[in-house]
Amino acid sequence: MNDHRADMEETTLRGEELFRRVAGDFIGLDTTYPVASGQTTRRIYLDSTASTLMMGAAHRAITAFLEHYANTHSLLHNSAWLATRAYAWAHERILRFVHADPEQYTCFFTGSGTTAGVNRMARVFRDLQPERDTVLVSIMEHHSNDLPHRKHLGRVIHLPVAIHKDGMGCVDTKALEKLLEREQKRVNYVAITGVSNVTGIINPIGEIARLAHKHGALVLVDAAQMVAHIPVQVSGHTDAAKDVDALIFSGHKTYVPGSPGVVIARKEHLSQLEPEEVGGGMVERVFTERYTVSPKFPDREEAGTPNIPGAIGLAVAIEVLDRIGMDFLVEEENRIINYALDGLKSIPEVEVYGSTDTIACPRAASISFNVEGVHHSLVAAVLNDYHNIAVRNECFCAHPYVIEMIPDQAAEYIAMSDEDLAASGLPKPGMVRASFGLYSTRADADALVKAIKDIILNKDTYLPLYQLAETDHEFRHVTFSLDPASYSIPNLVDNALEIGEQ
Ligand SMILES: Cc1ncc(COP(=O)(O)O)c(C=O)c1O
Repeated sequence: MNDHRADMEETTLRGEELFRRVAGDFIGLDTTYPVASGQTTRRIYLDSTASTLMMGAAHRAITAFLEHYANTHSLLHNSAWLATRAYAWAHERILRFVHADPEQYTCFFTGSGTTAGVNRMARVFRDLQPERDTVLVSIMEHHSNDLPHRKHLGRVIHLPVAIHKDGMGCVDTKALEKLLEREQKRVNYVAITGVSNVTGIINPIGEIARLAHKHGALVLVDAAQMVAHIPVQVSGHTDAAKDVDALIFSGHKTYVPGSPGVVIARKEHLSQLEPEEVGGGMVERVFTERYTVSPKFPDREEAGTPNIPGAIGLAVAIEVLDRIGMDFLVEEENRIINYALDGLKSIPEVEVYGSTDTIACPRAASISFNVEGVHHSLVAAVLNDYHNIAVRNECFCAHPYVIEMIPDQAAEYIAMSDEDLAASGLPKPGMVRASFGLYSTRADADALVKAIKDIILNKDTYLPLYQLAETDHEFRHVTFSLDPASYSIPNLVDNALEIGEQ
């Protein structure tokens, strides 16, 4: 914030040049861990779908802002004025990024991710149209865009996906239209993910919104995996029926861990109801027997003190993404996804899930797969322990979708009661997921492909080195693990206090 010359230089950078600078400037790109062979190597982070790494520029902006930190909702001392202005800018910046008309839409922050926002909007839509008790979701959904609708609305119908010759594709819009016709009077809204957190398959949000609106239903988009990866357009479509009613995403998946969840929603809907959450900051006048809710957005939707530094950091990251250009970022990501897909598909023992025809069925961020004859948990463990590659495994909080893609592996699991499953000690069905962010490189994809080949070649050597842990039924190395003393919390505190360094 003090270095104006650096700021000016930054504003002249755009596109590829800025991309190169930003891509190499994330916290955690140089993190090292010891591996089972005894060496210490650089971690390769392929778990961005769960949470991305922290963008250096956003982190520095948060640190600079903290010099001026004060609570918002006051303009009278300098820091409160600065904080209030910066926090207002964060809302406005995000609305602009997702192309949401600020006259019609508000942006508010809630919770620590998408889950809080989906729960919130499910209750809003329920109360807005109480006569409509049904939600259509797709089979692709993360539990966070499925269970809130089951709990708050009651009746949820799962839409199938289209089947391509090489695997499952995006939501089947013909099936959606049939269901909308059949359930016409009961469908309150359609809740759909923009991008699957399992296969990375992208849904045709505009078309889904058009169909839903044609049949009198609202549309909620789970954009948790969209905002950092593909351009988003909430409103302003030539066909206004394609504009969505609510769009929700997570700051921690958009390059700013520690930032809040974001809801973009039509003010028209929200203003008809008392806000879901009440407390300070959202009221005009309070007496012992009554209170009046503020008509102002987003204030009325943000009871209590918000995560001000997190929201500002997120808006900074979004400003950076916009300066690079989402069209540029999409192309970059397509290149790396296709490169990684080609590498994985070249291994006969690897099965990649979902259609891999990325022209007919575009993808972003995630690739999930299994290796024939090697359990997904063992693959993930060996990738970590021997190759220092961080991936995720199992069902990624999208059980119905994953189970549908691996019916053979899942049959026994589905048939068992919860008690029998717990007693059986059987590992859970699932997949391995490698996921990418703007800092991911071809070298990361190469390392993954090389490591998978090593696992296939040496599976009989690796297997005896592992056993299934009783606690979580995952494979754990018999002798190797990180030394807990080196990563203890007291050490973290001591280092933060710079104790022992005087
Ligand atoms: C598609 C999708 N929706 C919702 C969520 C839940 O997000 P959060 O954990 O940030 O609430 C996730 C998290 O992985 C996701 O990938």
